Amino acid sequence: MDRIRIVGGAPLNGVIPISGAKNAALPLMIASLLTRETLTLENVPHLADVALLKRILGNHGVDCMVQGKRAGQNGTTGETIELSARDIVDTTAPYELVSKMRASFWVVGPLIARMGEARVSLPGGCAIGTRPVDLFIMALRDLGADIDIDGGYVVARAPKGLRGAHIRFPKVTVGATHVAMMAASLARGETVIENAAREPEVIDLASCLLAMGAKIAGAGTSTIQIEGVDALSGVRHKVMADRIEAGTYACAVAMTGGEVFLEGATPSILQKPLEVLGEVGAEVTATNEGIRVKRNGSGLSPIEVSTAPFPGFPTDLQAQLMALVCRADGTSRIRETIFENRFMHVQELARLGADIQLDGQMATVSGVAKLKGAEVMATDLRASVSLVIAGLAAEGETVVNRVYHLDRGFERIEQKLGACGATIERISA
Ligand code: EPZ
Repeated sequence: MDRIRIVGGAPLNGVIPISGAKNAALPLMIASLLTRETLTLENVPHLADVALLKRILGNHGVDCMVQGKRAGQNGTTGETIELSARDIVDTTAPYELVSKMRASFWVVGPLIARMGEARVSLPGGCAIGTRPVDLFIMALRDLGADIDIDGGYVVARAPKGLRGAHIRFPKVTVGATHVAMMAASLARGETVIENAAREPEVIDLASCLLAMGAKIAGAGTSTIQIEGVDALSGVRHKVMADRIEAGTYACAVAMTGGEVFLEGATPSILQKPLEVLGEVGAEVTATNEGIRVKRNGSGLSPIEVSTAPFPGFPTDLQAQLMALVCRADGTSRIRETIFENRFMHVQELARLGADIQLDGQMATVSGVAKLKGAEVMATDLRASVSLVIAGLAAEGETVVNRVYHLDRGFERIEQKLGACGATIERISA
């Protein structure tokens, strides 16, 4: 397994290009199942999760071409991929594939809507929490699907097609909002989704579906209305920039000091994180082309933050913020409200000298004057990158194990940070 070796202490200076968003690319790729025509996606990031989803879609019969070449070839810019689900050959998504990536469960929505049947493995638990699928099942039942759980699979049937419905989510869920929106696009009649997720990735999916011929209003608000149509068409769509990648590098610059321009980042969808970084002590400037983040000399101030659905502080930046305030002058309090077990980075940050107390969903971080490099490992994507951030500011050498977690969601991280002056390298197994 590859490892990342970092020698901390250097400030970051330069430009970091922000890639296409993983969490937008995945549902957009899944939307290809809704149409017989070709969906062309631009700015798709080179990530392990994208490669895995190509395999999963291939299993259903989706033909995936990368800029005219077959999938699987690498490059340094975002890919343009053509997904063509002309004939769906299999409506089963097997355990071996779904258990590797939870978002692949989302194929259940397009498959039941277009084919009238879907058999999709339950994703199982994952490192950050139990993550049930009850709200997906609720929404699909509301849309008229018959659903059984059989042998670890969700078996959904709607031989006469789905019908529009009133869906009210008792809690905000990004994935079930994506799925309900995709399924309702091909249902008969009108659907209203209440308490929908307002995440920018929901808006990106909705705008692609609109271009494909879906009738959707209100994406980005808590109430989404969808008028079902008979069929959707192919379209060309550019994946939005990754707000979590941008927020992560912003935390890194706030940590090391220096000045970095996050090229292509969208400030309007990062308001809360940028506000928090300002409170911690970074200077943040929004421009039309990206975000400039700077910290020169000043110390870091402690903060109090709770994660929340958009537009609140994202759970996907919680670990990175925690790494940052490990070196604040004072005590910070960070509450995780979305996932019940998203603190695996705490023990590993402690190996670098951080002082963090956990009490249920609350982490109390007492700032320390310095961190010291060590060997660390993490069990999920955002936790791993928090260790990279800490390593960039730690004295001496930090080695982050299990880099495959990073490769799921951060494209060329060692090159992007290395180009800004970090001493960071991948040690291949
Ligand atoms: C998406 O996961 C993201 N994944 C996650 O990013 C992100 O952390 C999360 O949204 C929250 O913003 C992708 O977009 C691929 P949810 P999702 O459904 O859709 C509970 C990353 O690091 N829930 O909004 O799976 C659930 O357990 C990842 O990139 C139910 O109870 O998250 C959680 O407590 C990790 N029943 C809460 O809702 C359900 O049926 C919100 O989860 C569904 C969800």
